[in-house]
Amino acid sequence: RLCSTRVAQGGINKPIIDRIIRVDHAGEYGANRIYAGQMAVLGRSSVGPVIQQMWNQEKVHLKKFNELMVAYRVRPTVLLPFWNVAGFVLGAGSALLGKKGAMACTVAVEESISEHYNNQIRTLIEEDPEKYKELLQVIKQFRDEEQEHHDIGLEHDAETPAYSVLKTAIQLGCKAAIFLSERI
Ligand SMILES: [Fe+2]
Ligand SMILES: [Fe+2]
Repeated sequence: RLCSTRVAQGGINKPIIDRIIRVDHAGEYGANRIYAGQMAVLGRSSVGPVIQQMWNQEKVHLKKFNELMVAYRVRPTVLLPFWNVAGFVLGAGSALLGKKGAMACTVAVEESISEHYNNQIRTLIEEDPEKYKELLQVIKQFRDEEQEHHDIGLEHDAETPAYSVLKTAIQLGCKAAIFLSERI
């Protein structure tokens, strides 16, 4: 029965696909935890609906990567329990700095993720755009939506000079998270 959800694996570059799906699943999982943390603090504030709207899209992203993990038979990163806590702490922590702190976090994370998705799109096109058509379509759509989240953050005054240190720190964290989730 499960076979219907599986993808024919003949000829695909399994190590590359494993790595892409594992890290993207981890990222979308972490994004969900960040927005959950922000909602715990700012859910009833004026930016609550904006955060909820972005979170709803992250839920769709995560669901898709859950499906892709089954279809391509990829195991999740062993770091999920850690991203569970780290994501929530980052979301809640940034929200405790106020609305601008939360939005600065969103801008930092979504910028990193958009760039990360762009790198993957490049990799898959270099591999074989026809073979990875479905995956490319998913990643391109999500890249566009992360870009929208980034822009929503900017519209909410995320770019105050005081947060440039925060942004740098968060983006370093994202790089480390990506590096680790691709590998373990
Ligand atoms: Fe996402
Ligand atoms: Fe996002």
